[in-house]
Amino acid sequence: MSNSRVIIPLDFADANQALNLAQQLDPDSCKLKVGKELFTHTGPNLVEKLVESGFDVFLDLKYHDIPNTVAKACQAAASLGVWMVNVHASGGRPMLEAAREAIEQSSNKPLLIAVTILTSLSEADLHDVGINDHVEEQVLRLASLTKDCGLDGVVCSAKEVEPINHKLGNEFCLVTPGIRPAQASQDDQKRVMTPAEAIKAGSHYLVIGRPITQAADPLQALENINAEINPYLS
Ligand code: C5P
Repeated sequence: MSNSRVIIPLDFADANQALNLAQQLDPDSCKLKVGKELFTHTGPNLVEKLVESGFDVFLDLKYHDIPNTVAKACQAAASLGVWMVNVHASGGRPMLEAAREAIEQSSNKPLLIAVTILTSLSEADLHDVGINDHVEEQVLRLASLTKDCGLDGVVCSAKEVEPINHKLGNEFCLVTPGIRPAQASQDDQKRVMTPAEAIKAGSHYLVIGRPITQAADPLQALENINAEINPYLS
């Protein structure tokens, strides 16, 4: 496993573009994320190719279903050799525990993390589905449930890192998108932190896409980010 804290999402619609970028990168300097779009286009073969090339792969399929189905899906993901998989915390305790037990029984044991509240949802959207608490309260509730069920961590926005760390401790793994180096375009991200700010706040892994994937020299862009965060890593 590489020590890198940077996860690069392969947000592409076809395998060639994803492999082309992966070939320009070094598995010791980053990890890769395969999400629903790429996985639905290309299937598990691409994931296995990336793993065979030496990359730690986060399979970001956000499982949310009945416990038995999610457990089987987690087992299937683990068998691909991935480094991290995720589920939705709102699937509830039985589903979270079934996912954790499935991973424990697998020979490859990826980190298992949960999505709390999608950052695309506003408080008004939560009210529509019957959740009347403030977003932060609900995020903390689901993060606590996730930890209580024995999972390894959560995906969260950079602004949630400090309250979750404070409540659940430094060992609980926090994976944070919405990261932008100081000079980079924010694209469509609304609330961003720089890589160094996010690491200092307590994030463990940074999901950084376009500042690397759209750069003229992706490897150099990645090296600049690693150089920015290295002084803050213990
Ligand atoms: O290009 P950019 O750095 O904005 O990419 C961020 C990645 O993290 C994308 O794959 C996006 O779907 C994902 N993501 C996010 N915000 C979340 C959850 C996931 O940007 N709350």
